[in-house]
Amino acid sequence: MSIITRVLSGKDGVGKSTVTALIGEQLALSGKKVLLIEFENGLRSLDMFVGATQTKIYDLDDILNGRCEIEDAIANSSLSRNLDVIFAANARKDLPKDQFETMVLSLMDTYDHIIVDTDCSGDSIDCLTSITMNNLVVATPDVPGIRDARYVCDRVLSNGGVGVKVIFNRVRKDYIKDNVTPNLDAALDLIGVPLFGVIPELGDVMNCTSRGILPKSKTMTRKIFKALAMRLEGENVPLTVI
Ligand SMILES: Nc1ncnc2c1ncn2[C@@H]1O[C@H](COP(=O)(O)OP(=O)(O)OP(=O)(O)O)[C@@H](O)[C@H]1O
Ligand SMILES: [Mg+2]
Repeated sequence: MSIITRVLSGKDGVGKSTVTALIGEQLALSGKKVLLIEFENGLRSLDMFVGATQTKIYDLDDILNGRCEIEDAIANSSLSRNLDVIFAANARKDLPKDQFETMVLSLMDTYDHIIVDTDCSGDSIDCLTSITMNNLVVATPDVPGIRDARYVCDRVLSNGGVGVKVIFNRVRKDYIKDNVTPNLDAALDLIGVPLFGVIPELGDVMNCTSRGILPKSKTMTRKIFKALAMRLEGENVPLTVI
C-alpha cells in the first residue's frame, strides 16, 4: 500500500520538482518502489530531472483522457529501476481531477511511495487531499514566499488535509544574518505548520537536475535528500540545520 505524498507550493519556481525528484531518487536507492507524477497542466520538467526524457510518448493527459493505458505512460528512470515517472502533458490543458484520483488509487498496490509534484493552481491544490498522507509545502524563506506558503497550508488544512509540513528551500545563512530573510523560527511561526526539512542553496542541484544525474555520494546534497527520504519513511532523523 503506497504512502501518498504531495509536494506543493504557493508560487512557481520554488523547487517542487527538485524536491520531488531528489527525495524520490533517495527512496528508490534505499530499495523502495517509487512513482513520481508531475501533476502540471503545462510545462514539464520532472522527466528531465530523473533522466527519463523522451522514453515515453504518452503522458498524464493521455491517461486521464483515455488515450492510453496507465502502464503505457509509466517511464522508468535511468537513475534506478525502482524509480518510475509519469510525465506532465507538454501543452497547457485542463486535467480531469476525478479521473486523477481514481488513477492514483489504482496504483497503490504497485508502489511503496507515490509522490505527486502538484502545480500551484487552487484546483490542483484541492485535488487528492482525502487520500494524501503527507502534504509537503515547499517555500523559499523570503517574506512573499512565507505568505504564499501560509496560504497553501491554510487551504489544505481547511480541506481536511493531514501531514501538512513545510520544507524551506534555497536557504541562505548570509541572508538570515543580514536580515534579508527572516530566521526560520520566525518564518515557521508565521506559517503555522511543523517543519519537515531545511534545504540550503546548493551549487550542484541544477547540474544534477538538468542532466538527470544523481548528486555525488557523500555530498551535502546527497545527505540532505537522504535525510528527507528517511523522514518520509517515518524514521526519526534529525532535521538538517544549515
Ligand atoms: N536548493 C536549491 N539550490 C539551488 N538551486 C535550486 C534549489 N532548489 C531548486 N533550485 C533551482 O531552482 C529552479 C526551479 O526549481 P524547480 O523547477 O524544482 O521549481 P518548481 O517549483 O518545480 O517550478 P515550477 O513551479 O515551474 O514547476 C531550478 O533551476 C533548480 O535547479
Ligand atoms: Mg516543477
